[in-house]
Amino acid sequence: MGGIKKFFKPSIDEAQVYSPGGILRVLYQQRQDWVRMMSNESPFEPSPRVLEAVEEAIHKAGWYYDSDFIELREAIADYIGFESERILVGNGSTEIIDMIFRGFVNSGDEVILSDPTYPLYPIRIQVAGGKSVVIPKILPDYRWDIDGIIKAINPRTKIIVVVSPNNPVGNTITEGEMKRLLEQDVLVVLDEAYGEFADKRLTYLAKEHDNIIITRTLSKAFGLAALRIGYTIATPEIINYLTKIKIPFNVNYIAVQAAIAALSDREYLKRVKNEIAKGREYLYKEISAIDGLETFPSQGNFVLVKITKPSVTGTNLEWKLADRQVLTRKYTGKAGLIGEYIRITVRSMDENHKCVEALREIMRK
Ligand SMILES: Cc1ncc(COP(=O)(O)O)c(C=O)c1O
Repeated sequence: MGGIKKFFKPSIDEAQVYSPGGILRVLYQQRQDWVRMMSNESPFEPSPRVLEAVEEAIHKAGWYYDSDFIELREAIADYIGFESERILVGNGSTEIIDMIFRGFVNSGDEVILSDPTYPLYPIRIQVAGGKSVVIPKILPDYRWDIDGIIKAINPRTKIIVVVSPNNPVGNTITEGEMKRLLEQDVLVVLDEAYGEFADKRLTYLAKEHDNIIITRTLSKAFGLAALRIGYTIATPEIINYLTKIKIPFNVNYIAVQAAIAALSDREYLKRVKNEIAKGREYLYKEISAIDGLETFPSQGNFVLVKITKPSVTGTNLEWKLADRQVLTRKYTGKAGLIGEYIRITVRSMDENHKCVEALREIMRK
């Protein structure tokens, strides 16, 4: 008979289940007063305009509202300087990423990734039936190996994925490097989830190239991670194609109204960007000054910390910080990273101080 499993698709059956935030998140999710530095969330409450919009929107929870999200797409268009025909809204940028692989990858097609990167990618590629081809980034600072990526392209290659600022390192790809990738006869996905925190974004390349698909989100700088609003920018032809994959009402009405309110409050965004830049600079400087720890310059809302003291591992450090109510994320053993690492999300200044104090104490022993 072969049991129920014979009905499963092997490509899905063999995929891993993604665990956002790692083990500490699962263990300590309920500890609201602990310092949450493990998931690259915003430390700030959403804009007061968002709170107001949500309160109002809940009264219409019984409606099937606009499934094309015209008003939200216009608000996003205004924010990024593109026409709304070039924008599609998703349930977080995660949904968009999934739609892209389901839309473009046939069984056995290849997608090029550069490790270390966001670990969700290989899972979604596998679920879509594709094969990840991984080009390691170049040490010591984990830059993209553009020659290596171009060399790996073959007739089965459909997509190259670039995450910039890259999670977990925080570095960014240059315009010149992106342009070399865009000259190839493949689709290039540029994930700018952390774009707001960077000095410079490359979103504008979507005005010059028709093989680029950009994904962005309101989860990070706008502080709406729990409401799940992301979007993609591409040619109207690609947007029309992806719209066929999108399920109706994929984003709920309350989140849509919250997102419109969030995008209208540019003062809030400016303040968040400033605070995160200050906190990032503080963490970078103070952690680099601790014996046995090194950090990488970051353009995201997080810093990657390399542990160079042989007696300390990423696991040790993650748990010792948790003993002090600071939750971070071990990155040791993640694809493409050589050595012992943890990643720390930039939080409010009080929380950043608490983390640095804890690190100093642990590393002194
Ligand atoms: C690089 C990157 N892309 C995309 C996402 C997904 O964000 P969301 O689905 O909340 O928009 C994350 C979340 O941490 C991320 O790190």
